[in-house]
Amino acid sequence: MEEHIFNIEGLTHQFADGTFAIKNLSLTVQQGKKIALLGNNGAGKSTLFLHLNGLLQPTSGTIRYKGKKIKYDRKALLSLRKQVGIVFQDPDSQLFSANVQQDISFGPMNLGWERNVVHEKVQWAMAQTEVTELKDRPTHFLSLGQKKRVAIAGVLAMEPDVWLLDEPTSGLDPYFSRQIMSLLDSIHHPDKTIILSTHDVNLAYQWADEVVVMNDGKVIYQGDPVSVFHDEDVLMRAHLEKPWVFEMFQALLKSRIPSEKDLVPRTKEELLQKMERERIY
Ligand SMILES: Nc1ncnc2c1ncn2[C@@H]1O[C@H](COP(=O)(O)OP(=O)(O)O)[C@@H](O)[C@H]1O
Ligand SMILES: [Mg+2]
Repeated sequence: MEEHIFNIEGLTHQFADGTFAIKNLSLTVQQGKKIALLGNNGAGKSTLFLHLNGLLQPTSGTIRYKGKKIKYDRKALLSLRKQVGIVFQDPDSQLFSANVQQDISFGPMNLGWERNVVHEKVQWAMAQTEVTELKDRPTHFLSLGQKKRVAIAGVLAMEPDVWLLDEPTSGLDPYFSRQIMSLLDSIHHPDKTIILSTHDVNLAYQWADEVVVMNDGKVIYQGDPVSVFHDEDVLMRAHLEKPWVFEMFQALLKSRIPSEKDLVPRTKEELLQKMERERIY
């Protein structure tokens, strides 16, 4: 049986100023999935993430992690945050130590690991995210892209089971976006679950096993990353464009009989192979 990482039932969150950011939202997340969370600005994606590692508490509704209702005492939260790592949308909310290496070490040190283990993990995480040469720099002088990579390194060093990444590639150039995505591919295995929010439909289409779309504090779609782009209503409500590989393929289909759904190309390479095979160019 597939294990449920999160079971969210009837989650509502009202901020102090009266705003309802999440409205009676229900969602089940299965272990081992790579999930892209899409939705227009203000849909509630960041607010949802903050609930999933206990930084915000529901106004009403329940959140279960691996079947157990999340508790908010210090000990329970520490244990949850060991397992569920979050990379904030705004890295300035994440980074606060004097320099890069200290910042990346902060999480692992709090896990109570031996000094040499912490050191090893931090070196490894810095190498993976290509921030080693920034290690002595003060975090507040870094560029946005550098800050994002440092924030990701801090989570990577803790090796959580669940990753929550809030728009991890926004503000990164194509090289570092690709590098972050291949890093996520390399850490992914059947026990790890990754939920990534993004406005990049091309990324979501190519990378995700499952797509969740939010609008106005609710989930309006959960399913495979191809069907969602056939759903004009969802696309309109969540301000989503179609991925270019998907659109190209739809255009190609106009000239001949459609093939089975599982052959829909998801990457540029798959699309090119398909065109070559069908002698389109
Ligand atoms: N701290 C806060 N206080 C009041 N309202 C907030 C706060 N944070 C977010 N909101 C509001 O909650 C809604 C959802 O915001 P958010 O979760 O940031 O959406 P998204 O990440 O999808 O863009 C928006 O209407 C936003 O203005
Ligand atoms: Mg957000």
